[in-house]
Amino acid sequence: MRSLISIADLTNDEIEEIFSLADSAQELRADRPANGQIMATLFYEPSTRTRLSFESAMQRLGGTVISCSDMKSSSAAKGESLADTAKVVSAYADVLVVRHNWDGAVQAMAEHADVPVINAGDGGHEHPTQTLCDLYTLRQEKGQLKGLTVVVCGDLKNGRTIHSLVFALARFGANVVTLAANGMDLPQYVIERLEREFDYASAPMAADDLNAVVTETDALYLTPKQPHQLALFTQVDQVIQARLSTMAAGLRYDAFYMTRKQKERMKEGAAKGSYPTIGPAFLREQRFRDTVVMHPLPRVDELSPELDKDRRGVYFKQAAFGVPVRMALLKFLFDRRAAKGVKRTRNTRAYESPEAHGPQCRNVNCVSTNEPASTRRRFELFFVDEIGALILACAYCDYRFKVQFIGHVPTKRYAAYDHSFVETLQGWLKTNQLAIFDSIKEAEELGYEPFKSGLQRILMDQAAIENALAEMSREILRDCRDADRLLILGVRRVGSQLAQRIAAEIEAQRKRKVEIGEIEIYGSGDELRRMAPAEPDAAPLSLKDREVILVDDVIHTGRTVKSALSIIFRSGRPRSVRLAVLVDRGHREVPVKPNYVGKNIPSSEKERVRVRLRGFEQAAQDQVVIYTIIAPVAGAPLPDVREENTTVS
Ligand code: CP
Repeated sequence: MRSLISIADLTNDEIEEIFSLADSAQELRADRPANGQIMATLFYEPSTRTRLSFESAMQRLGGTVISCSDMKSSSAAKGESLADTAKVVSAYADVLVVRHNWDGAVQAMAEHADVPVINAGDGGHEHPTQTLCDLYTLRQEKGQLKGLTVVVCGDLKNGRTIHSLVFALARFGANVVTLAANGMDLPQYVIERLEREFDYASAPMAADDLNAVVTETDALYLTPKQPHQLALFTQVDQVIQARLSTMAAGLRYDAFYMTRKQKERMKEGAAKGSYPTIGPAFLREQRFRDTVVMHPLPRVDELSPELDKDRRGVYFKQAAFGVPVRMALLKFLFDRRAAKGVKRTRNTRAYESPEAHGPQCRNVNCVSTNEPASTRRRFELFFVDEIGALILACAYCDYRFKVQFIGHVPTKRYAAYDHSFVETLQGWLKTNQLAIFDSIKEAEELGYEPFKSGLQRILMDQAAIENALAEMSREILRDCRDADRLLILGVRRVGSQLAQRIAAEIEAQRKRKVEIGEIEIYGSGDELRRMAPAEPDAAPLSLKDREVILVDDVIHTGRTVKSALSIIFRSGRPRSVRLAVLVDRGHREVPVKPNYVGKNIPSSEKERVRVRLRGFEQAAQDQVVIYTIIAPVAGAPLPDVREENTTVS
């Protein structure tokens, strides 16, 4: 039985097969392959196109449709779970088409249904059948998908159609230019997947010639990596960045894919501010004479009405293709009723905690957070070499987060994760001995004790840390060209604590407030957050023309800083970025040189350096400590030397 939850559930060949079926929709209509079949449409969110085109498609295939006119009038209103609804309606219908406001809700229902389930949009996560319509439209208009350049524009953060679309475009070898409204950038996890799974490179590009059409936004160019390209484009990869920018300058834009602001998924106040639009200037620009304009609809006011009459405005055609494409999809799934579900091809490993308690998805809109009874704590797990991190991706919503604490099940020992554990954990994973915890409390409640570490030395005490931060703050102020444009941006979490202290020093010296932000290296969105001023209705953090001071506690391999730089340069065009770290350990794997250093502490790979700050993780005073954990042996716990509470470097 095949369901369609994510665009990743279909191979490229299968998508082509669906398109061939859509090309012969008239024949399908005559054949009536769904004769005697029933479709149930369960829409927990409003819809015009998806719902009606699915219902029309089913009827044109000879089938019938049952539905709840409003899910608020279904037993969901009495508290019936998604799992029970899926089970019950499976007995009434041969296929379920579901739209829900929670990310991953359709996946959860598919796990409990006995018939195929189709995702008609789940929260801000995915909308795979819209993507099929989008690709079909592009193919009709442009002949092929490979090598096209598609500009995705507007609310790229909350637009589920965008997330499915960019993955599909990448799979077919298209280039993507992102033009996000301020604060509505493509989530980091989407870019990270493009880079890791599809071998894409990304670089900021001058949006100058796009500004004729869309203003007040920065552009990002995503393209399949060429063999000579290395990795992400950051300040330290200037040669490559320049090369990619040159490539971007000569781009031919094949399509603009516009989206509306997804107000229903935004916090109150966040929907304010300007939003890009495509207006009459677009129609006059010579270089856009063959650029089609697409939109999943509904539109609000992103598209000028003049576009409706222009051959390049193809969004009504795109909506009309919903019927043949969905007829084709239904036929495709009915033909595979006896087939097994497909495993999505990702270079990851499934993870479910061997312990009664395990990690929890951090996405507040995930079905697993909102209705745990209908889900399992299922994740995909992978290592990210660039930052030495162990990442869990929620199997329902794709939200990613870094593993903080790991445990060894047979010995009931736990430790804070760091990249020196990588090889050991591979062994524990194979034998299902890896426990993952969100907190020390959770580990200790399950009877776990900390791993033991070697002797610890204090390298900086409170006075030394205060002096170092004061000196760094003076240097930052001395070097900046315009102190009013300073933005102190800390790497979450210790880096952001230090950023606040540096900002406080600068404020004391200048007698003026300084803006502070926080950067999250691994997150599903909101990678950049304002910390101060912290008014709830303040505009999203803007990096444009800012003098950014990136603050972290310890620089070792340089990989964290490199990732932070990538996020910064993707998110805007700062005037400058300088790096401030409390401790420089040397031995870097990537050439990132801090501008401001509190203390140089040359240390070996075996040694761990930890910055403890008072008022944070129960530390009574500020300290920088160095200690060792004896090198872990694959499959075995770490030997005892001396008890220590937590171990983080
Ligand atoms: N494009 C789309 O999903 O439209 P509806 O919300 O009207 O279904």
